[in-house]
This record gives sequence, structure tokens and C-alpha cells, in this order.
Amino acid sequence: MKVNGEHFQTIWLDSTESIIHIIDQTKLPHHFTTKPLHSLDEVINAIKIMEVRGAPLIGVTAAFGIAFAMKSNSSDDSLKDASSRLFQSRPTAVNLQWALNRMNKELIPITSEKRFEAAWSLCQTILDEDIKTNQSIGLHGLHFIENHFNKKTLQVLTHCNAGWLATVDYGTALSPLYYAHNKGLDLHVWVDETRPRNQGAHLTAWELGQHKIPHTLISDNAGGHLMQKGEVDFVIVGADRISMHGDVCNKIGTYLKAIAAFENNIPFYVAAPKSTIDTDATKNFFDIPIESRHEEEVLMMQGLNSNNELTNIQIAPKGTRAFNPAFDITPYKYITKIITEDGVYSPQELKSVYS
Ligand code: MRU
Repeated sequence: MKVNGEHFQTIWLDSTESIIHIIDQTKLPHHFTTKPLHSLDEVINAIKIMEVRGAPLIGVTAAFGIAFAMKSNSSDDSLKDASSRLFQSRPTAVNLQWALNRMNKELIPITSEKRFEAAWSLCQTILDEDIKTNQSIGLHGLHFIENHFNKKTLQVLTHCNAGWLATVDYGTALSPLYYAHNKGLDLHVWVDETRPRNQGAHLTAWELGQHKIPHTLISDNAGGHLMQKGEVDFVIVGADRISMHGDVCNKIGTYLKAIAAFENNIPFYVAAPKSTIDTDATKNFFDIPIESRHEEEVLMMQGLNSNNELTNIQIAPKGTRAFNPAFDITPYKYITKIITEDGVYSPQELKSVYS
């Protein structure tokens, strides 16, 4: 998508140097900066501190982590070690595991001399596929919206950031909105700020603004009120993991929005690639690892100070302890439809389509 009129992806390759470049998302919206990544350690760090974030983008970046590991040491042990370190970098989004499995499946059977080249080429494929997948989600979502809503200004609410910044390009939940806007549909998006890391305020508001989609930032607590007042036609969010039953793990606070939407008879849509579906039906989905992040993310807030410098300020009394679960699970009964690159399904249909 465009940044100040110029096309950007969140991640791209420099094949001559065998390195990648990313947009550093910890500095947005105030500074647009890109940075190169050269090694497995740099990839792990970028995922952990959320320079790259969003389930699909974490998966793509992790694949490059494997390629970098193969560049310096392409032995079986190195592959195993890199996979296990990447796996632990952010535990909830299943796309990371999906990308690691795909890399391992390709690399294990081939000789170690050929591994780096094969890894690099598969990374490029995974990156390109992500763009196509999100375009497809966008088109399915667009047709669904066109067939189900017929009103002057469509009021949409979204939580966190499931836009192009969370993927290589286009996004998942925001992809249908980009297609709709480009086609001339009149849209307005309510953007949840998404405490504690404020991905809505920092990222979604920024990317919608860059694309000139009308939007208004709201506090996380305002959504229920807007729904009661008839100001929301549908909610659309992304996902970090979806069970075969259609339960959806996504950014903390998604569950509360889904309950509010259900209570007010407002459709609640989830847009995600099939790589977000956790096909392991042997475990209880409500026992999946929910990442618990540092308490500082709740106790501090980032923004510009009066000198226009990016600053963290403390918002709670010194010594206050905080708890910071990064995701929650919305049971399938609150979800109206799940949009994937293959179509639009009810949660109950997922099993027959994807098992
Ligand atoms: O903690 P984050 O910013 O990585 O969380 C992102 C989300 O929860 C997104 O909604 C989800 O990954 C879907 S992104 C297309």
C-alpha cells in the first residue's frame, strides 16, 4: 500500500545481499523508518519487540529467520535450534508455527549445501503468497459487503491492526475495506485504540489515513455505546489463531467487542488466511498459549512530547503492578462469518472446508 504516495510492503528482500528490510512499526505513526535485518538474532529481536507484528507478518519474517540460520550454518542442529528459538519468540499466532513447519518440511529432506538457497527461495514464495492471499480475502470480503449492505455510509468498527502493516501487504480485516473504498463505496471506520500497545491509534489510524479512508479513533470502551446507538453496521477483525470449531483468538479486547456486537445484533466478521487455522484438534483450544507481555506496556504510554520527540511516560503510580495478556479467545457463537482467501464461511463450516 502507499506511504506518502509511494508503494511499500512491510518487508522486502535484497537478494544481492541476502538481507531483508522491514518497516520499524515501533516508531509509527510519528516516524516512518525502515531497517535491514541480517541474521536470525535480528529477526527474533524484531518479532519480540514488535518491530514486525501481526500474525501473517510474524510468519513471513520467521521464515527469513530460518533462511539466515541456514546461511551461517545449514546443519540439522542449526535448523532445529533456529526453529525452536523462533517458535518461542511469540507463542500465540499460529502463522509462525505454520511458516516454520513449511520451511522444515522443505529443508529437512535436502542436503545441507543446498539448504540456504532453497530456504531463501521458499521465503520469497511465502512472501508473494501472502500478498495474493490478502488480495483474495479482500475481494471475497468486498463481494460479501456489497451483497449484504446497501446504505449510504457504511459504519465499520475494527480492533487492533489487521491492515497491511500486519501482513506483507493489503491486510486481512482491512483488505475488504481497501477494496470497497477503491471501488467508491462510502465507508467510515471506528478505530479502537487497542490498549495497551495502541495498535489502533498508532497503526490502523495511520494506514487508513494514508489511504484516505474516513475514520475516527475511539477509546476501547466506546464501542458498546456506539453499537447501542446504531452507529456500527458491522465489526471486522483479524485473528492470530482460529480453532476448527471457529473460535477466534485475537488481540485482547476482541472478546468484549464480540459480546457487545452479539447483544446488539451487529454482525461480527473475522478475516484471516487459512494459515491462521489451528488444525490440531487434539487439544482444548481454550488452553492455547496466550502471550503475557511486560507490565511496562500497561504502565507506560508512548507518544510525542512537546519537543516532538518520541517519549514514554508513566501513567500509573510508581510501584503499581500490571498484568498484560496480549490476546483473548472469542467463542464461535459470537462470530457471524469468517472470511478466508477461499471464501466466506460460518464458523461451523470451517471443519468441513479445512480438515
Ligand atoms: O500483538 P500484535 O500487534 O501482533 O497483534 C495483532 C493482532 O492481534 C491482529 O489482529 C492479528 O494478528 C491479525 S493480523 C492480520
